[in-house]
Amino acid sequence: MELDDVVRKRRMVRNYDADRPVPAAAVDRLLDHAVRAPSAGFSQGWGFLVLESAADRERFWAATTPEDWGQGQWLEGMKRAPLIVVPHANRSAYLDRYAEPDKGWTDRDPNRWPVPYWHIDTGFAALLMMLTAVDEGLVSCFFGIPPERTHAYREAFDVPSVFTPIGALTVGYPAPDRRSPSLKRGRRPVEQVVHRGRWS
Ligand SMILES: Cc1cc2nc3c(=O)[nH]c(=O)nc-3n(C[C@H](O)[C@H](O)[C@H](O)COP(=O)(O)O)c2cc1C
Repeated sequence: MELDDVVRKRRMVRNYDADRPVPAAAVDRLLDHAVRAPSAGFSQGWGFLVLESAADRERFWAATTPEDWGQGQWLEGMKRAPLIVVPHANRSAYLDRYAEPDKGWTDRDPNRWPVPYWHIDTGFAALLMMLTAVDEGLVSCFFGIPPERTHAYREAFDVPSVFTPIGALTVGYPAPDRRSPSLKRGRRPVEQVVHRGRWS
């Protein structure tokens, strides 16, 4: 698919065809592209949990869904996704990398960082997976894991405490879905958000 088409076709889809698993080759390609993402100092302090079996996916939803949520339309559609990939960021890997002689931040002080590159890099990897999904004829949705459920999530999947899930991705073939009400806001045009030469 042309890059323009991949970029324009990508949108978050929140309902999936539960009867169509993601082919193994497509799962491999998503992950292969994820690790092609750029990373500060080539730290690559990320880790990806891949959940495909019905039991693993059910464990994911049980661990991450707040008790007072009930079974809404969002959750029903998302639960049909045959694949969940959870991208994690490891801040410690960045502090270690930048303490090496060519960087020299031996105090490992997180305040030296202009922004948390560990989150940025893992987000880049997530975007590459979403774009690859489109190129494979698949759809995906990036969504947050509620902070109060992170502990339960880690426990359920033995995720080491240095790894923080930055969110999760559902992936699969699309089923009819309701578009997000957020889209009513409309896409902000280039002229409104781009500042050429100086801000104003
Ligand atoms: C960091 C981030 C967090 C998001 N969290 C959620 C979420 O928790 N649930 C959800 O349904 N969509 C979530 N979204 C999807 C956005 O709502 C969506 O990207 C936005 O409305 C634009 O729609 P589009 O991506 O389909 O173009 C998230 C997107 C991003 C980038």
